[in-house]
Amino acid sequence: CGIVGYIGQNDTKEILLTGLEKLEYRGYDSAGIATLGEDGVHVTKVKGRIAALREEVDSSGEATIGIGHTRWATHGVPSVQNAHPHQSSTERFTIVHNGVIENYIDLKKEFLEDVDFVSETDTEVIVQLIEKLYEKHKNTKKAFGEAMSLLKGSYAIGLIDAEDHDTLYVSKNKSPLLVGLGEGFNLIASDAMATLKETNEYLEIYDKEIVLVNRSFVEVQTLDGEVIEREPFIAEIDASDTEKGTYPHFMLKEIDEQPIVMRNIIREYQDEKGELKLDKDIRKAMQKADRIYIIAAGTSYHAGLVGKEFLEKLSNIPVEVHVASEFSYNMPLLSEKPLFIFISQSGETADSRAVLVKIKELGHPALTLTNVPGSTLSREANYTLPLHAGPEIAVASTKAYTAQIAVLAVLAVDTARAKGIKLDFDPLQELAIVANAMEVITNQKEELEQLARDYFAITRNAFYIGRSTDYHVAQEAALKLKEISYIQAEGFAGGELKHGTIALIEDGTPVIALTTQENVNYSIRGNVQEVVARGAHALIISSKGLEQDGDAFVLPPVHELLTPLVSVIPMQLLAYYAALHRDCDVDKPRNLAKSVTVE
Ligand code: G6P
Repeated sequence: CGIVGYIGQNDTKEILLTGLEKLEYRGYDSAGIATLGEDGVHVTKVKGRIAALREEVDSSGEATIGIGHTRWATHGVPSVQNAHPHQSSTERFTIVHNGVIENYIDLKKEFLEDVDFVSETDTEVIVQLIEKLYEKHKNTKKAFGEAMSLLKGSYAIGLIDAEDHDTLYVSKNKSPLLVGLGEGFNLIASDAMATLKETNEYLEIYDKEIVLVNRSFVEVQTLDGEVIEREPFIAEIDASDTEKGTYPHFMLKEIDEQPIVMRNIIREYQDEKGELKLDKDIRKAMQKADRIYIIAAGTSYHAGLVGKEFLEKLSNIPVEVHVASEFSYNMPLLSEKPLFIFISQSGETADSRAVLVKIKELGHPALTLTNVPGSTLSREANYTLPLHAGPEIAVASTKAYTAQIAVLAVLAVDTARAKGIKLDFDPLQELAIVANAMEVITNQKEELEQLARDYFAITRNAFYIGRSTDYHVAQEAALKLKEISYIQAEGFAGGELKHGTIALIEDGTPVIALTTQENVNYSIRGNVQEVVARGAHALIISSKGLEQDGDAFVLPPVHELLTPLVSVIPMQLLAYYAALHRDCDVDKPRNLAKSVTVE
């Protein structure tokens, strides 16, 4: 979910709506705003997107304070009733919340037995609790503070009090939230991107702090009321990067940006002499580690699988790659000197953060690879390596995946060199070759669009197969296809298919095989023959040098280790065109959110 809040003299409703549009990537099944003006509080909520909310909002009437929310349902189905903002019974208090309250049933039992709830959400419990505590204290700040101290779980909260036109009450725990600072106004947002039009100056809020946001000042306090001084920071994001320009979809723009991202990484990770440059402390931490644990979710997890190969093959360190949500509750036996690498486009994924909190308690060091420096995972880890991919807006991750792989290659080579391992591999030069190869592929959109029509127009399912490194890309390719086109897809190890899954192959089932590794070129082609013999509609994508007659698409040559950086591009474009031709919402697929800030 995403939240935004504003207090000031400008067009409050417009600022909230624009902010929510920018936050829609965090969830888009329902949305709402509440504003407070001379004539009291007005709440507008819809099931659906911000565009629908915009139509519902009555733009007449002045408001100088407001809060807004775009939702990714956790407790309760997407509906107007369950959409935020939520109000207390007397409608004095109105709240927006991102996160999950774990003890909401206990709180209901202990404090709110006599209250009639109108929604199924845990959020309504918070606002009813605040009202209940207000009856006791007759002071909103006290009631808010006590309520916050009773909550267990994750939350980012904005609250307005209908009797107070001068304060936005704010707090957070685990879920992200920033305060934006302006001249004569202040605001809150889940992400700086939402309010870049208004300001680029932000104040961080730490877990369990209470923040009172007024038009002209912001006061940060501990739960005990101790005032905290903190310096603001400037968010260095170019607002124009968050627009899609002439592209029909962000996803297509972001696929096309990948060569630029590779060049950004080359520039950012080299010194004046053109040599590889990396933070010395990170180098030392890598040298010290006897084992690396990569923790990530979704596409970032798939990048981690490729990263493991670089780190093991180039720098000779054993690496384990774990899905964050599994690691958190079922921790494997750790080595003596582990180093944790968190890979996360957003730097906000709650599953990954839960692991970070646990391993910090154990005293282990952590490095975060993220596209958002200043994000939670970046702030809370010991070290950060930025991806330099620029804002990624489409829910399906594309350029962040290739940026993660490229930065992992840089890290692996730097570590190898620090350990005195002689390598015949210059990552910066090789990445420059990759950037050019990516351009060659993105210029072949028509061929890929035709392949998507031929293979995915009517199918219900599809298989991607590969061996070795290509298997990891097959997994990512399948994820891309299923998340945006809703075709059921699986990425399989070519040799494993025959041990059960081949039973699913029928006449016409699409099987996309990838071959970029010389040592498995013949064996994967053998696997293709096996499925063709059972009726599959097979398509082979191969690297130049390994191609054979009949291959559907040939990738320009790059270093064998770096082939995922180019082989994934046709996969991204196939998924894009499949979704487009099936009339799916490419940038905002159903049921998903770009940044999942609940566990
Ligand atoms: C969500 C997104 C995925 C993404 C995953 C991890 O589920 O829909 O595209 O890969 O989160 O996100 P992160 O920001 O941690 O890389």
